Amino acid sequence: QLPQSFKISVAGTGYVGLVAGVCFAEVGHQVTCVDIDKDKIDMLKQGISPIYEADLEELMRKNYAAGRLTFTTDHVRAYKDADAIFIGVGTPEQPDGSANLSHIATVARQIAEAIEKDCLVVVKSTVPVGTNDKVEQFIHDFLVHDVIVEVASNPEFLAQGTAVRDTLEAARIIIGTESRWAEAMLMKIYEPFNLPIVSVSRRSAEMIKYASNDFLALKISYMNDIANLCELVGADIQDVARGMSFDERIGSKFLSAGIGYGGSCFPKDTKALAYLARQHGYNLRTVHAAVEVNNDQKTLLYKKASNRLITFDGLKVAVLGLTFKPGTDDLREAPSLANIPLLLERGAKVYAYDPVGRANFSQMYPEGEYNIKYVDRPEEGLIGANVCFIFTEWDEIKAVQPADYVALMRTPLVYDGRNIYEITEMQDAGVEYYSIGRAA
Ligand code: UGA
Repeated sequence: QLPQSFKISVAGTGYVGLVAGVCFAEVGHQVTCVDIDKDKIDMLKQGISPIYEADLEELMRKNYAAGRLTFTTDHVRAYKDADAIFIGVGTPEQPDGSANLSHIATVARQIAEAIEKDCLVVVKSTVPVGTNDKVEQFIHDFLVHDVIVEVASNPEFLAQGTAVRDTLEAARIIIGTESRWAEAMLMKIYEPFNLPIVSVSRRSAEMIKYASNDFLALKISYMNDIANLCELVGADIQDVARGMSFDERIGSKFLSAGIGYGGSCFPKDTKALAYLARQHGYNLRTVHAAVEVNNDQKTLLYKKASNRLITFDGLKVAVLGLTFKPGTDDLREAPSLANIPLLLERGAKVYAYDPVGRANFSQMYPEGEYNIKYVDRPEEGLIGANVCFIFTEWDEIKAVQPADYVALMRTPLVYDGRNIYEITEMQDAGVEYYSIGRAA
């Protein structure tokens, strides 16, 4: 008979680990979050979240105060008598596109050396298909005590900005196990979430994660491809998307054409799956196409503006939006990072606005060292600007009125990578307006 509440340790306090730990505590489990970064653990103990995420701090503080959630750098104590250990450490992209599994290996070794009772190890991190078989073998090889350990796959489907909601109200929980015991354990751990559970083999679970992310990336690249064609033939991608969305087989989400997908997941997971396929002698053509379209899409507006302006040298360029999407401070693979270096290289003076991403961006591109200035309001960046690029659809940016561009800019020339305005409202206000997939 399995208990109602488990002693769970979570390795890694990044997006995946921290959110999982907090949510497990919220449904009643006893959770210890482990990280090697002492500063981060100290911050967490004080109730400060290292990531910007709605509702996370509140739930963190609540469960910490209730004694269901603790933070530590002492992995030995955290692992030795845990019922289950969830691994949520990063699997960053390597130069060849493959996933770097060194963090997973480090944690697996620590677990093997620490555990003193039977334990289920659950990998939440996105790992290439077959990795969990190896993790299990690796743990067995380094085990110190005579205990039973199994590894299960439980991929994560949260999106940044909505992480807590995505976890507590997930569309589905995927569990990949190789024994009845592991399956029963994971089912029981997730029982209080009251969500649909899909139970499959370990390898299928690992594949479901990549197949889902790469499908969404493909969907976006497909819409961007069609958007580019729409411009050439005089159709409007937003009308086209609306028309498509009523077909339930297509669905209404992830049909927004734009400046390309960014973030820590789609760019990495598309390349990792293509790499895995190549290793097995298979050319995953659809995913390669998604990556290729996305690479071109990121600098599409920059290229258009370069043609229109001849040179950026000495021009004042307003950039509205630095993060890869609203609701996060994450800059990984953000379009701003593909474009701002080009603008700076070509001699532009950049005025950048982002309600949340400014601190992270200015660490990479400090004022004074680069010809860049960070402004507190979007309108401030527009004053006297020769051209404006919109890269993220933050509400604060959507609130800028068409007339503001005309009133504030030296020349109201706007390149909108997120299609946030109606073409007619911008044209009626007197803006020279370019967007994605819509004939100007
Ligand atoms: C993505 C997935 O949505 C999650 O399900 C998954 O768990 C996560 O990756 C992960 O593997 O950890 P995330 O990267 O946080 O989540 O963000 P998304 O909301 O999916 O957006 C990704 C990018 O696609 C953004 O740059 C966004 O602007 C772009 N996008 C999204 C579009 O260009 N068009 C759309 O219609 C939708």
